Amino acid sequence: MSARPRILVHGASGRMGQALLRLAAGREDLHIVAAVSGRAPKQRVIDGVPYFGASELGGAPTFDVAIDFSLPGGFDPLLALCIKRGAGLVSGTTGLDDTQRVALDAAAAKIPVVWASNFSLGVAVLQDLVARAAAVLPGWDCDIVESHHTRKLDAPSGTALTLGEAAAGQGLTPHYASIRAGDIVGEHLVQFTSHGERIELVHRATNRDIFASGALHVAARLAGRSPRRYAIADLLGTAVA
Ligand SMILES: NC(=O)c1ccc[n+]([C@@H]2O[C@H](COP(=O)([O-])OP(=O)(O)OC[C@H]3O[C@@H](n4cnc5c(N)ncnc54)[C@H](OP(=O)(O)O)[C@@H]3O)[C@@H](O)[C@H]2O)c1
Repeated sequence: MSARPRILVHGASGRMGQALLRLAAGREDLHIVAAVSGRAPKQRVIDGVPYFGASELGGAPTFDVAIDFSLPGGFDPLLALCIKRGAGLVSGTTGLDDTQRVALDAAAAKIPVVWASNFSLGVAVLQDLVARAAAVLPGWDCDIVESHHTRKLDAPSGTALTLGEAAAGQGLTPHYASIRAGDIVGEHLVQFTSHGERIELVHRATNRDIFASGALHVAARLAGRSPRRYAIADLLGTAVA
């Protein structure tokens, strides 16, 4: 592995791909060596980075980790390439089917893999804090209030359910409330209530770039690790395990 992990961005022309490329340019802990979109790119090299269409994926240069924010249709060839090259995979692509999820788990025997529905590092920390608080507050009420913009259709949010699982894993029974208002990017309040006292843990997302910077952070720390499935929380530190 080179000193700075070499990153392939998959889904490079999309909203997340563009954010990844913009944010990666300011980072010292990794560098982008290839950008792949679904359709063949109009421009072959941008800011020194070679661009490829999905059908040209096999021609991508050597990379240490692929970051994938694309669509399920592009997932299988990328996973196969990562295995063939012995490279890590960080994927935030949603809508994977059961076969793809099984393939991801199987790949973890050969390469280091991260898949997450939320790449905010703050949410990963909040999840850990919720589990730790729930473990020492048996019998307390646990309520999760999530707020999002009016275009969000699902409720409670997937993140709220993940936080609820963290509390339920320690024996509490979480209850949920959802607010849909204006352009709220995403807020999650987890409150633990007893008689005469209450603890509140809250995360507020104000910018969607947090998902891209979280994925870059995780990718920089996944490079060089041994094969297995990692959670974001496993990669919050800096040491190679
Ligand atoms: N986990 C998280 O924290 C998180 C956060 C935000 C979004 N997401 C997920 O990330 C994914 C991308 O979101 P987005 O908003 O960036 O979507 P988007 O703007 O629609 O971009 C999709 C990207 O995927 C590319 N693509 C499509 N088919 C492909 C294929 N067969 N092979 C390779 N690339 C292909 C597209 O290329 P063309 O432009 O050439 O078609 C485009 O670059 C979605 O699954 C979304 O749900 C996850």
